[in-house]
Amino acid sequence: MEYAIEAQYLSKTYGEGRTRVEVLKDVSLAVRPGELFAIMGPSGSGKTTLLTILGLVTEPTHGRVILDEENIYNGRRPDLQCLRREKLGFIFQLANLIPFLTARENILLPLELIGITGKEARSRATELLKYLEVADRADHHPEQLSGGEKQRVAIARALANEPKVILADEPTASLDTERGLSVMRLLRKLSNEKRTAILVVTHDTRMITEVDQVIHLQDGRIVDTG
Ligand SMILES: Nc1ncnc2c1ncn2[C@@H]1O[C@H](COP(=O)(O)OP(=O)(O)OP(=O)(O)O)[C@@H](O)[C@H]1O
Ligand SMILES: [Mg+2]
Repeated sequence: MEYAIEAQYLSKTYGEGRTRVEVLKDVSLAVRPGELFAIMGPSGSGKTTLLTILGLVTEPTHGRVILDEENIYNGRRPDLQCLRREKLGFIFQLANLIPFLTARENILLPLELIGITGKEARSRATELLKYLEVADRADHHPEQLSGGEKQRVAIARALANEPKVILADEPTASLDTERGLSVMRLLRKLSNEKRTAILVVTHDTRMITEVDQVIHLQDGRIVDTG
């Protein structure tokens, strides 16, 4: 398999007439398994929109997304919710853990949604908590965790379904530099060891030290990839 995810000639327009906004214009990119890309650009340049289109949450106005060799917006409409649950992992700026569930239960939830329960689910959750070095916090609720720990649990949750692609929208923005860098190192390790394709939006140039490629967006266009 060559690419885990591809975007071809994506455009997105909101509204019409005087309120029409062209948010993305002719954006194409392709990420191989094991690659880590950063997406940068000023506020309003379309980064989140691009990520939500790649995440099959927002439909593009034109263009296509090819996820794990499946062409999504091309005639026949696959079950997007099912694809999201099985092939994608999401990480947000705030960990967005479910407050009344423990760390472990937060990880079990996406597994339950794809029908993995019982012993297998529990052992996968335990393994992920260990992998992210929060095993000793398994039975804590989110309010009992530090910001960095919450984000590690959120990463464990995003990994639970063994996704082909992880989409992260400013996952380091609410952390200090050191914790932010440790999240970036973790994403690097994941892409290397689990061959996950990872796209991470960040504002912070200090966070882009270990990525394979930086995609710069400006006014909805890719202006530079380096
Ligand atoms: N549902 C919507 N309807 C209309 N306009 C929208 C909608 N969603 C986003 N936009 C506009 O699209 C542009 C890009 O938004 P987007 O959230 O993708 O930017 P961003 O690069 O993620 O910015 P930030 O760095 O501030 O998070 C913005 O000008 C925004 O106002
Ligand atoms: Mg954004």
